[in-house]
Amino acid sequence: GKVLVLHGPNLNMLGRREPQYYGADTLDSINSRLQQRAAAAGRVCDTFQSNSEAALIERVHAAFDDGTGFIIINPAAFTHTSVALRDALATVKLPFVEVHLSNVHARESFRHHSYFSDLAVGVICGLGAAGYSYALEHAIDHLNRQAS
Ligand code: DQA
Repeated sequence: GKVLVLHGPNLNMLGRREPQYYGADTLDSINSRLQQRAAAAGRVCDTFQSNSEAALIERVHAAFDDGTGFIIINPAAFTHTSVALRDALATVKLPFVEVHLSNVHARESFRHHSYFSDLAVGVICGLGAAGYSYALEHAIDHLNRQAS
């Protein structure tokens, strides 16, 4: 199985956007680090970013039968708003880890609720871009246990 990494709205601006919360890495540098690590483990890692809720939902639907075995998702602001993206993940029933660069619990109260966390295998927040790498280690272990 492949790993799919999904990035929600405004994450295309990483490196330039509020670096005190989100760090200095660009999305391209994060994605290429994940792809290199996956390749070293004999896995393919697809990445997709969109500012559009519809495009993210359609990418999740495509994961149903494109060989994806595990999803890593930072839904960004849709974390706190999107029943539709949550429903898409529930529809395809693929295991996923939810990642946030910042510690959402140390920020505004509207960031404390997630529509995803109760469906997620696990949630990583506040560890910056490294959070994606830790999630990928879990994804690799999960896929290796499945031997598929
Ligand atoms: C975020 C946290 C969200 O509250 C915010 O809307 C984002 C990024 C994070 O990675 O810390 O866009 O998901």
